[in-house]
This record gives sequence, structure tokens and C-alpha cells, in this order.
Amino acid sequence: MCGIAGYLGKRKASPILLDAVRRLEYRGYDSVGIATLHEQRLSVRKAVGNVEEVDKKLHFAEMPGNVGIAHTRWATTGKVTDENAHPHLSNNGKIAVVHNGIIENYQELKGFLQKNGYTLKSQTDTEVIPNLIEHHMKRKSLKQAFLETLRQLEGTFSIVALDEGSGTILGARHNSPLVLGLARDGTYIASDVSPFIEATKKAVLLEDDEAVILDNKLEILNFRTGKPVRKKIFLMHWNYEQAKKGDYEHFMMKEIDEQGSTIKKAVQQDAKLMKKAVSMVKKAFGVFLVGCGTSYHACVSASYVFSHIAKKHVNVVLASEFENHREFLTNKTLLIALSQSGETADVLEAVRIAKDKGVKIIAITNVVSSTLTQLADETIMMNCGPEICVLSTKSYTAQLAILTALVYGLAGKLEAGKKLVLQAAAKVPDIIRDSTPKIKALASKIKDSRSIFLIGRDMAYPSALEGALKIKEVSYIHAEGFAGGELKHGTIALIEDNVPVIVLATEHTKKEILANAMEVKARGGYIIGINSRQDDVYDYFIEVPEAGMANPILMIIPIQILAYYLAIERNLDPDKPRNLAKSVTVK
Ligand code: F6R
Repeated sequence: MCGIAGYLGKRKASPILLDAVRRLEYRGYDSVGIATLHEQRLSVRKAVGNVEEVDKKLHFAEMPGNVGIAHTRWATTGKVTDENAHPHLSNNGKIAVVHNGIIENYQELKGFLQKNGYTLKSQTDTEVIPNLIEHHMKRKSLKQAFLETLRQLEGTFSIVALDEGSGTILGARHNSPLVLGLARDGTYIASDVSPFIEATKKAVLLEDDEAVILDNKLEILNFRTGKPVRKKIFLMHWNYEQAKKGDYEHFMMKEIDEQGSTIKKAVQQDAKLMKKAVSMVKKAFGVFLVGCGTSYHACVSASYVFSHIAKKHVNVVLASEFENHREFLTNKTLLIALSQSGETADVLEAVRIAKDKGVKIIAITNVVSSTLTQLADETIMMNCGPEICVLSTKSYTAQLAILTALVYGLAGKLEAGKKLVLQAAAKVPDIIRDSTPKIKALASKIKDSRSIFLIGRDMAYPSALEGALKIKEVSYIHAEGFAGGELKHGTIALIEDNVPVIVLATEHTKKEILANAMEVKARGGYIIGINSRQDDVYDYFIEVPEAGMANPILMIIPIQILAYYLAIERNLDPDKPRNLAKSVTVK
């Protein structure tokens, strides 16, 4: 995880880099640091805390110089300490490095450096990188020393380095994202495009094993072969307004609110692309859907539409468990990989395993420049604009919208599927407006609960899983989702007076799920019904209109709002839950 950035140009670098780490903070917020170069001297400021906290202490924008690099950390190797914060310096203090990813062979490299007289001051894997560059520079040019270092690294990395002697910025990527922004005022390099979307629409999307040498010119080469690579300039469509909070207090609420329009955008795909995807599913002998967290829940939800509408069996697998299915893959298999960020390490690993076996890949993602788009045979973009809050909200409903349309397409009813989703999308603003006051009151009532349970049957079951994830990750209240029939096989032992149980009922599942609700109520549970119709069993009722196969798109909305207000009631920052990062680029 971690966000990295660099700038070389005509403007003062530190305010640009401070803004960059603010925008990349969704990738981790354990510590922050910036290095700039001024009058041929590197200076580094770094400390534990999120960007605002650290900036108050260290006043980053005062740092002079027109070139610099920056980092916001989600700790993997080495605890959250000032010493472990990036940038890391080489022993001679002349090379500064920021890194996102994990260097798997760092112990071995550390041993090599120590034998050669180097002292490593932090517990991080990153610190080997500037020292290896320093070591190789004893016999080689900066460029060759950098390439030699990159070839020694095993694991995943995107790196930005700054050399004191020449003021050169060096960058490279291997299984972690890195993009360049070509602006009039200078060149930007970052984990994603957000640090430079105001400055330029021109980006260069680096691919695995590519390195960048940036001084008064820009050179891009493959670091394994040392050969130059010609890159296309990519014109970005995202704008800065989309990545700003506007009048909202938090991105989470802004992104929940946007769903009326993002669901529409997601389902309005290029007809040719959808036909192509449908034909790939039709032709496939064995279809797998993979994702992690919320994206995995979208896969589970879609598997019910595959079954009900297209009568097609699909295998839904957590991306992190996919390798155990390796033996079932052939060149006739199709893998549909879901990932908002397109950078989730487990998803990329699943895709690589599949590709090795000749499997065709359809990616469903939100980030144009992501690694997943580079690996896939076909990519369906979610088109929901930058999702900044760490929690997935609008990307989940966009995934559901796309998959619903795709399955209807498989059944020869693409237009009907789109219509169903568009009708659901049209109801979203009303649901948000009408249910918010009730949900706020509910959040205040249940905010001190030890646990919250959610139950649903059929397609409402994955909604219960996703609802539980939303509640627990942002409010830190223990929450679990169950299939309606399952709670009584053990967990019902936890139901006592006033334990909140959210019951997700649909017309199709009403009879049985309400019977399950009765079982819980008989043991003292406090029943919160999310349904199109009131029922006696509910102690609290939130109305959501019936939408057939699009029910999961609508049902999740009140739970997203509830999760948000639970966090507010508990004085937590909904945009940055503890221990999480938006883009999980480590396995
Ligand atoms: C939950 C959440 C995570 C992500 C998961 C996968 O709100 O955001 O569970 O869904 O880390 O991320 P992507 O979709 O980027 O692969």
C-alpha cells in the first residue's frame, strides 16, 4: 500500500508534494515524509501520524527546492515509528527513496550491505534500496546503479528515488502502480493520477519492469533488458472536482450520494464491449469470479443473478484463495476479476495464475491506469469517478450494475437488464432522502451495541455480508452477516435482549426470512427491517422499494448510510478507518 510521489519542475516542490500526499492518503496514513533538494543538499522531514498531524509539526511547505519526493505509509515491514517513516536515505545521505510494496529478499540484501560496511537504521525493507544504489554507484553511473539495484529486488515495488548529486528523480515499478504526469510546469510521478489531475490531463502509464530517469529530459526503459521503451500519452477524463469533498463533510457521504448517477454510468457501457464480454462468458467452459472484500461480495451477489436469469453456474472464489483452484483451469476457462482499484495484490496474483494456464480475463475496475487493466483481455470500466473514502460504496453498486446487465445479456436480454438497473438507479436519490432521518435516529439508538447481526436469504444474503463489512470497518462495532437459515446453527446463542438484527427482506424471500426474524425476536433481538413493506415483526422499519434482480443495488444503500452515521455517532472519521488502506497492494 502506501502512496508515493515525486516532482521536478519550475515550481516549488514541497507544497505540490504536500498536496500529493493529502490526495494519496487513502493508501495509508501511518506516517508521512517529504525530501526536497535545494542548493545541492537533500533535506528530509518525516514523522508518525496522518498528513495533517505531521504537517502541523514539520511544516512541509517551508522546505525549499524545485525537486522532491514524498510518501504516505501503510506499514508492512517495520512498526509505525518515525525511523521507519519514508523517505529513507543511503548511508552517505545522498540518495533518498520512497517505496510502495514489499521487498521479499530484503534480509538477504541487508546481509550483503552489512558485510560491505553499511549500517541500516530502520526496520524497513525499503532502506536496502538507497544503500544498494549508493553501493553500485562506486563502480557505475547513477542510471546503471539504479538498474542494477532494481534487478536485485524481489517482491512488489514502485519506487521513487532522488539523487543529491545530480537532482535526478528515478522511478520504477514491479507489480505496484506508478504513473507520470506531463505538465507545463514540470513532471509528476505518483502512485495514481490524483496528485496531478489539476496540473495536466497528460499521463504516461508505466508497466511492470519499466524505469524512469528524469532530469532535464525523460527517459523510460525496461530495467531488465536496459532497452528504451516508447510510451503513448494517455489523456485522462477524471477531473479534480470529482476528487474534492465539495459541501460534504466526508467523502463517504458524498460517494453514497453519488450513486444515483454512478449506477447509471456503470450500466451504460459500450454495446460492442458488452457483446464481446457476453460472448466470452458463453464460450467459456468454466467461469470464475474473483475479488476481495466488497468486490468479492459483488461476485457472490452476481452469482445469484447468473443462476436465476442465465441458468449458468459460476465459481465464486476469494482472490486470496484462488490458487487452490489452479488445477481446474484450462485455456477454455474465463476469469472475471473485480477490483475497484485494479491494484489489489491478491486479485492480480489470481489473474497471473489464470493467465499462466491460458485463461481469458475480463476485468471490472474503476481505475484506468491500473495494473489489472494491463493484464486483462477485456476491461469493463466502472466509470464511477475517483472513490476516495477507504470504504467501497459507489464502486460496489457499479459492480452490481455491470454484472446484472452482463448476465441479462447472457440470457439474450441485455436491454431489459439495463432498464432494470436504470429503474433502480432512479430510485436511489429518494431512498437516500427519505431514509436518512430515520437512519440517523437508528444510529444514535444502537451506537453502543456490542454486535450487530444482519440476515438475508437468496440475493439478500450477500447484501447482509456486505452490510456487515460496511458497519464493522467504519464503526468498529462487531457485525456479522448470515444467510437467514444459518443464524440458528450456532450464532443465535449470541442473541439476547436488544441485540440489533437487521433483516433484509424481499418479496421473493419474505415468508422465510420473516420466520427467521421471529426466531430472533423470540430471544430478545431488536429487529430492524429493510423491506418494501412494513411487518409486525419489525421494531424499526426502513423502506426500500422492491427491484427484483436489482434488489441488492438498493438494499445496501440504507446500510451504507447507517454505517456512516454509526461512525459519526462514535466520533470516528468515516473516510479513514484505523488499520485500513484503500488499495491493498500486498498479499
Ligand atoms: C471495503 C473495502 C475493501 C475492498 C477490498 C478490495 O469497504 O473497500 O474490502 O473492497 O480491499 O479492493 P478492490 O476492489 O480495490 O480490489
